[in-house]
Amino acid sequence: MLRVAILSSEAVPFAKTGGLGDVAGALPKALIRTGEVDASLVMPLYQQTDRRLLRELLFDNLEVEWTGGNRHVRVFLSEETISAPVFLIDAPEYFARPNVYGYSDDHTRYAFFCRAALALLKRLGRAPDVVHGNDWPCGFAIAEVRARRAYDDFYRQTRTLFSIHNLAYQGAFDPRDLGYFGFGWGEVHDAFLSEGAASALKAGLMLADALSTVSRRYSFEIQTPEQGYGLDWLLRQRRERLIGVTNGVDYDAWNPATDSHVAANFNAYDLSGKRECKLDLLRRFGLPEEAERPVVAIISRLVAQKGYDLIREAAPAILETGAFFIALGAGAQEYEDFLQSLRDHAPHRVGVFKGYAGEPLAHQIEAGADMFLMPSLYEPCGLNQMYSMRYGTIPIVRATGGLDDTVENFDRARGTGNGFKFGEYSARAMLGSIYEALFAYADKDVWRRIQLNGMRADNSWDAAARKYVEVYRAVMRM
Ligand code: ADP
Ligand code: GLC
Repeated sequence: MLRVAILSSEAVPFAKTGGLGDVAGALPKALIRTGEVDASLVMPLYQQTDRRLLRELLFDNLEVEWTGGNRHVRVFLSEETISAPVFLIDAPEYFARPNVYGYSDDHTRYAFFCRAALALLKRLGRAPDVVHGNDWPCGFAIAEVRARRAYDDFYRQTRTLFSIHNLAYQGAFDPRDLGYFGFGWGEVHDAFLSEGAASALKAGLMLADALSTVSRRYSFEIQTPEQGYGLDWLLRQRRERLIGVTNGVDYDAWNPATDSHVAANFNAYDLSGKRECKLDLLRRFGLPEEAERPVVAIISRLVAQKGYDLIREAAPAILETGAFFIALGAGAQEYEDFLQSLRDHAPHRVGVFKGYAGEPLAHQIEAGADMFLMPSLYEPCGLNQMYSMRYGTIPIVRATGGLDDTVENFDRARGTGNGFKFGEYSARAMLGSIYEALFAYADKDVWRRIQLNGMRADNSWDAAARKYVEVYRAVMRM
């Protein structure tokens, strides 16, 4: 059995702000199902973590080396919600705050989390074969394992995999803090330096034994200056050690046949429940219950990455089609203001929920909508297009990153394809695909064909988990 410790700054059902939470909650479970991996997950205990998910206080005084005086943290073991042990590090000084991210000392918070996670693994007594870190918050752990291999027998054989979920978030901070974190000199110190700042992402990319990212296409895109965020040179340099593994869908959580959040269950053979879900969705947003009128929906963080500039530009034209438009999102004020003004302008056509809504509403939108819009500027993988397909909701996406890998454009002549895809990042191109989708929607047989193509697609975690096992095995030979 391979012993793999996954480190993540978020994971469902404990804390989530986006797709990383879904992935970190599903991957350990899928790895255990392969029968080849003894996987565990280590994450911070946040203020927003539901305390009912904790089973026991495992350590009430784990010592963590820290400049200015060692700290002591509590470590909880969770209930078996994801069938792998989940260790939650309780450091209230850093994590008992209203939000998961967004503080000026985020780099210190996650440097501390990583230090504590590695102290915990040591205290548990069995060295992991692989430490698998995710995104910049875990870059510190990758660096530390690398440093410890030289002087700490416990970590001598441990290898590291660093997964990039979003290259744009780099965890930059003042390099003078490196000394404070214990990375004040040598190869490891230098690995953090990036254009005058220190970057936890860069350290992870430089020092991990292997790198992965969350779709095949994104693994190539990040090697280009356009999408490399200043680190494409490093990714090109390490391309032999970089692999794209497309995320899966946790069908225990995202399955219209069993989903407990939605008004009615349905499946590929009997879609009648979807109509009920649509009416329920319209009611929730205070929209007229016109079941024949198409619903175009979007759920995303309100950031430029998600293509909100295109949506803003195309909004009048979308409304002109007569479709309902429903948006759920939290993020930049300018986009929240835009959504509010759209809603005020067309209250009978537009439904908006601003803020982070948690799981139920996201499921209700997936189940009740007809079309799901993801015009992303870039998209490492994207999960909602895959959720949409399972719920008979047709994705309209821009051909970038994981969206391009997972959505196949509908071909009317052959009856193949599971969505609509455009290439150019422009409102015009996006509208072209929306019009095409609305045209197809008008023909019930055609629409049903596309729905079935999507509902039958198998995007489960099993294939991805098998790939990760291969990567873990390869990294152990390095
Ligand atoms: P990203 O990780 O870039 O945000 P993904 O498509 O991988 O994009 O995953 C986003 C996840 O976060 C999905 O599960 C989606 O339903 C959820 N999500 C995004 N915004 C919200 C929100 N405002 N309320 C509830 N869930 C949200
Ligand atoms: C990131 C990416 C998203 C991906 C998710 C999970 O947040 O933006 O595309 O699906 O991570 O890997």
